[in-house]
Amino acid sequence: MQDSHGRIIDYLRVSLTDRCNLRCIYCMPEEGVPKKCHEEILRFEEVLKIINAHASLGIKKVRFTGGEPLILKGVDNLIYNTSKIPSIEDISITTNGILLYDMADDLKKAGLKRVNISLDTLKEDKYRQITRGGDIKKVLSAIEKCMSLGLLPVKLNVVAIKGVNDDETADFIRLTREMPISVRFIELMPIGEGAKLYEEGALGSEEIIESFPGLIPLEDLSGTAKLFKLENAKGTVGFISPLSCKFCNSCNKIRLTASGTIKPCLHSEDEIDIKSYVNDEALLTSVIRDAILSKPQEHHMETEHISRSQKMMYQIGG
Ligand code: GTP
Ligand code: 5AD
Ligand code: SF4
Repeated sequence: MQDSHGRIIDYLRVSLTDRCNLRCIYCMPEEGVPKKCHEEILRFEEVLKIINAHASLGIKKVRFTGGEPLILKGVDNLIYNTSKIPSIEDISITTNGILLYDMADDLKKAGLKRVNISLDTLKEDKYRQITRGGDIKKVLSAIEKCMSLGLLPVKLNVVAIKGVNDDETADFIRLTREMPISVRFIELMPIGEGAKLYEEGALGSEEIIESFPGLIPLEDLSGTAKLFKLENAKGTVGFISPLSCKFCNSCNKIRLTASGTIKPCLHSEDEIDIKSYVNDEALLTSVIRDAILSKPQEHHMETEHISRSQKMMYQIGG
């Protein structure tokens, strides 16, 4: 359906949990976050009802996020049930990749089409530092596995941070010469832990583009990223620039959090609690319609240098 600014909203991001098996420095506090009790988190039957209601309003793409979605038992079943909704054309996940190697076969069988994997460094030690303990080898083997299973395109999300991984941007770009992947640099957003790093660490997409001659712009305007390619490369290089080149005008997304609220915009304070309506299909659909209509025109991070969201990135899933 159309929102009140004329945008077609056809993409639902579903955060299944705010828990994660990593604690990346720009996302989770070092001490971790308090565990929510089961009643505070939507059950998969409830999530499915909510996806169904969105589908009736024209949602065609569903992305499961977290925290880390793969720490939950039964995600493959949820994907399978989602794939049975006739109007849903694309089902994807955003994951840190740690558990993906072992799960990829089942996820693919269940109907998963593609994966976006967060990977901010190619160095084993630095990966352990950024994620506070993660093992990069698990992620690298998961990437290979997804490519061999045809979970394509595999997209790598690299949050670019000065003084952390800005020395590796060229290495990431070079990966695309031989690998059919999309490496996407994401501008650090000033939200939660990210806000603490933002002043020193913000790195604009333009700086990376200028530092690597030979990136040829592509016409593709279908996603959040502006895409480039090296000559004769197998993969692409993308830039997700919510600050230096915001894409609110073409935003096609709505978000569901694990606690059962709709976030019409990642960076607005507005949230609509829909948990109590899940058993009334007509009411649920009508509240979701109103939520979509209330989607704000844009965020204001580029001038305010802070997100207005009350929820943290690990609670929204990006
Ligand atoms: P595709 O369907 O593959 O295009 O996925 P995606 O890029 O929308 O999803 P992903 O979960 O991989 O997100 C990558 C980065 O883009 C994350 O840091 C998200 O927070 C950010 N992002 C995605 N959608 C939006 C958005 O609507 N607004 C802003 N500001 N950032 C977004
Ligand atoms: N700014 C930009 N991207 C972020 N992510 C998490 N926190 C931030 C932030 N503050 C990214 C993760 C993941 C995606 C869902 O969001 O690295 O790839
Ligand atoms: Fe977990 Fe992703 Fe946050 Fe890292 S960025 S702590 S992988 S939710």
